[in-house]
Amino acid sequence: MVTKYIYGNPVETYAVVEEVPLGETPAHVFLETGNSLTFTHSLGSEDIVYGLGETMRGINKRGHRYISFNYDDPYHKDEMPSMYGSHNFIVVDGETAFGAFFDTPAKVVFDVDSKKNGQLTVTCTSPDLRLYLVEGEGPYDVVRQFLAIIGRSFLPPLWAFGYGQSRWGYKTARDIDRVARKHRDAGIPLDYICMDIDYMDQYRDFTVNCRRFPNFPDFVARHRKEGLHLVPIVDAGIKIEPGDPVFEEGVKEGHFCKNREGREFQAEVWPGLTHFPDFLQKKTRRWFGEQYRFYTDQGIEGFWNDMNEPAIFSTEYRERDAEPDAVRGDPDQPERHIADFKDFFHQLDDGRRMRNYEVHNLYGAMMTRASGQGLDQLLDKRYLLFSRSSYIGAHRYGGMWTGDNASTWKMLRQNVYHMPSLNMCGFLFSGADTGGFGGDTNRELLLRWLAVSAFTPLMRNHASIQTRHQECYRFRKPEDFKTLVSLRYRLLPYLYSEFMKAALRQDMFILPLAFGYPGDRRARRIEDQLLVGESIMIAPVLEPGVRGRSVYLPEPMTQVRYGAGGFTCTEVEAGEQTIEVPQNEVVFYIRQGKLVPVGKAAANTADLALTEVELLGGGTTYEQYIDDGYTKQCGLERCVTRRKGEDALGE
Ligand code: NOJ
Repeated sequence: MVTKYIYGNPVETYAVVEEVPLGETPAHVFLETGNSLTFTHSLGSEDIVYGLGETMRGINKRGHRYISFNYDDPYHKDEMPSMYGSHNFIVVDGETAFGAFFDTPAKVVFDVDSKKNGQLTVTCTSPDLRLYLVEGEGPYDVVRQFLAIIGRSFLPPLWAFGYGQSRWGYKTARDIDRVARKHRDAGIPLDYICMDIDYMDQYRDFTVNCRRFPNFPDFVARHRKEGLHLVPIVDAGIKIEPGDPVFEEGVKEGHFCKNREGREFQAEVWPGLTHFPDFLQKKTRRWFGEQYRFYTDQGIEGFWNDMNEPAIFSTEYRERDAEPDAVRGDPDQPERHIADFKDFFHQLDDGRRMRNYEVHNLYGAMMTRASGQGLDQLLDKRYLLFSRSSYIGAHRYGGMWTGDNASTWKMLRQNVYHMPSLNMCGFLFSGADTGGFGGDTNRELLLRWLAVSAFTPLMRNHASIQTRHQECYRFRKPEDFKTLVSLRYRLLPYLYSEFMKAALRQDMFILPLAFGYPGDRRARRIEDQLLVGESIMIAPVLEPGVRGRSVYLPEPMTQVRYGAGGFTCTEVEAGEQTIEVPQNEVVFYIRQGKLVPVGKAAANTADLALTEVELLGGGTTYEQYIDDGYTKQCGLERCVTRRKGEDALGE
């Protein structure tokens, strides 16, 4: 059961789309202290707290403090309280299970028993709030009830589930051609290449540098013929550039955020001085979404939205007269940025004018909403869109990636922890920069990382310009990389089907082990094994220099080993098992009574036959979701029943 409570005069966030009954204000859970609201709850010693989407640390958030305040900090340390997105939903799994969604675009501090005294304290820095309390049978039931009110996940096209290669630093059409060719030569499947800021003319959105990318539509079409999509980046800030039609129109029609004096606010980002579109205004969202026509007219169907926390290098005020008074007493955020966010204003559709600081966490989400709604109008098929900044609700328009991680084993582990937490908050289509963004990766780390991201909806290798090149073909024995990427394609009949079913049922796609085995006390504490869809359990290798790992099996399962020679299945008992996993192999498990449809190897998704599958595992039937990969008419009626023994691979 979900109940809504309203405090003050909250801003519309568009996070919840279903009608939820209004309860009497539960005064007992809130302390109103001046301008903030504090929610408290005493945790039992064994209680687990789930949720909080994109935050650092494990799946159980207990023992630490987190702050919802979208922020661009590329140094993902454990102690970092905020990341790029704010996902204010927590689930307490204790004597009873309940969830709480603090629906406010202002800063929220979650102290999840950081002082080890059993206190969960949530402080909303604004007195205006919609609180949704969810009571359920257990944590998974609570999550499903929550997913039911926030609306269906964004549905990407099939090609978006293919492997993607990216790097900040591909500067010319020739760079991109070479990446495509090298993958083909090495036999490494590939569905898309991302184009980072260098494709633009002076880092201006909605432009292509025609010197470095001559005949862009032909270039796009040529790659499409080879089964490859190009995915350009779009940044939040619009360069201040007289003569640029987007800039000029934006000023003329009042689409940009204003400064204290009521003029367009200026902030420095990649292009130099920019204005920030006021995505909180409906008219601006419509205008910005329409701009994507520039790309769709040239054959583009996928995008990544970046720098939308928004990221700011410097501002017109900060360099001249930063206001120290405005920032005192806020030890958690670098002071300069708090001052920046207090310096510009949004015009809300309800007539209010608010500082960015007060509605801060909505900015990136509203950019995603603008792009998603625009693309939906512009294209008659599904599009790929993922954003760096987000808030619950944006999951209906696009996916997200977890920003500037690093090439470290810790970050690989964080990728594993993030996936179920993001799923609980609606972000099914998500993933991390495979191989790590900052710092130099190495062969072993990239191989192990591919073995994880082979199971995450977004599987994209991306790295920063200052780092070594980390395309798979750059390493010794590229055939090992080919094997791991091929696994992704062989699993796509299952992964695509499970993703679409989860999205259509408003369920999770990647789950903590505990959600599948509610009575199992041991499973409840395991964070490095996950459930992917209804049939698969993964137990990835997350440490360097090891030959394998130990795995806990809550029930007898089918162990599947995948390597250059294909799949080998072995029935294994419940309990603890130690497995050897060479770097060029992946071991995963199929749950008791379940099946996994696997297809043939493919060079890309255009080359993939979702219907030609072999069924692995000990179950008898599997409901496979199938469509053409891009139709907007998606529904569970597209599922077909596959029966063990009637599978057709190789016919
Ligand atoms: C920051 C993004 O997080 C990163 O992925 C991108 O490469 C750089 N901006 C440059 O655009």
